[in-house]
Amino acid sequence: MSFNGFTYEDLKPIALDNKCILGEQIVAHTSKKIEYVARYVDEWLYVIENISGHIFFIDAMSNAGLYENNFLSTALEVLNVFIRHAQRHQDRNYYLFCNDYDKKKIKTLTALKNYMLPMLRAKGIHNIYMYVDCADASEYIRGLNLKLIPFRGAKSSTLLYVDPYNILTEELGRAILDFSNNVYSEVLINFFSSDIVRNINNQAAVNKSEEIHRFIKGFCEIEDDISDENEIRKAFIGKMLSSKYLSYYHDFIMKNSTNITLYHLIYFTPNLRGLEKIKDTTYKLFKTYRDYDPKRSLEYYTIDLFGKSPEDYACDEAMEIILKHARLSRTREYSFKEIEEILLQEGVIPVSLIINGVLRPLIKSGKVEKRNLKGPRNFKEDNYLFKAEAL
Ligand SMILES: C[S@@+](CC[C@H](N)C(=O)[O-])C[C@H]1O[C@@H](n2cnc3c(N)ncnc32)[C@H](O)[C@@H]1O
Repeated sequence: MSFNGFTYEDLKPIALDNKCILGEQIVAHTSKKIEYVARYVDEWLYVIENISGHIFFIDAMSNAGLYENNFLSTALEVLNVFIRHAQRHQDRNYYLFCNDYDKKKIKTLTALKNYMLPMLRAKGIHNIYMYVDCADASEYIRGLNLKLIPFRGAKSSTLLYVDPYNILTEELGRAILDFSNNVYSEVLINFFSSDIVRNINNQAAVNKSEEIHRFIKGFCEIEDDISDENEIRKAFIGKMLSSKYLSYYHDFIMKNSTNITLYHLIYFTPNLRGLEKIKDTTYKLFKTYRDYDPKRSLEYYTIDLFGKSPEDYACDEAMEIILKHARLSRTREYSFKEIEEILLQEGVIPVSLIINGVLRPLIKSGKVEKRNLKGPRNFKEDNYLFKAEAL
């Protein structure tokens, strides 16, 4: 019988017996963030297990492993995802790297690791490895290059997760960018936008304010009199996409229970399949919303008085996005891949809605002509001509 992973109830006594601390009480947006990342890793594994023998998840700021109020941390939820996959793919190796600069939290994670790994081996699971470090995140990420050297050349896939309580420092931004220039990897960053909004010009916290300005000027490379968070985030995304490997991004907003944006989960990937998977995960958990609002219920996600579903509106928006692109760039002919790249990054629909929700209606209304390069039924290997009069 396969093993489903460790529960909070399994692990809490281990932490307490070893006189270890637990992480803080977490709130709704944090537990949702943990669920989102673990769900994405699950989706991602289905793709990369076909190509990679060595699979790495790195949480550079991993916390203690257990939170006070019955939640596992992201790293342990990911470990449970690894456990389920590793038993089906015994020829694949799964590596969980954890780090935090707080010694007490790392003591907890180490005690949990010392309990869990022998348990996995006893259950016949030999292809999961876990490493725990205690260092400043920037130093740790710089050291990762060395740790991953033995796997250079081997087929491997890596996801680096950086999840601070504040906006990145210039130094941390540089460490992440250097890492993604050296290692073909995906990167997921908690971009703590509310820290910018609150502290960029906070006279009561001059050091904090100066640090944010250093990040804006030194890392994002825009003038430090720019204080609009949107502009700063756009520059940050542009900077990350200048990396050798990162080609696509996805930006999702996390709000608190008073409907205030706390942070953005910004995901970068070298691969269009990665973008498709984060989009699928987002759609499964949040439907076509651009944000998570703890007070919103998906119960009301339904057809309105005009007979239209939220997906219909999302597809309408996607049509506007692609028409606007064609209008502004004066490009008339797009491949399916180009349309997909634009819509998955700028719109809210998953890839499964592009053909029926966007392309077919545009073709039917005469705004777009399908080229039929591989026949009328093949949409994905085709080009689409946008009619000048439709723009
Ligand atoms: C938001 S929590 C991380 C939560 C965890 N990633 C999860 O999803 O369960 C932030 C963690 O980062 C750690 N931290 C903050 N600044 C750090 C730094 N410069 N280097 C390493 N760890 C840091 C804190 O001790 C804290 O445990």
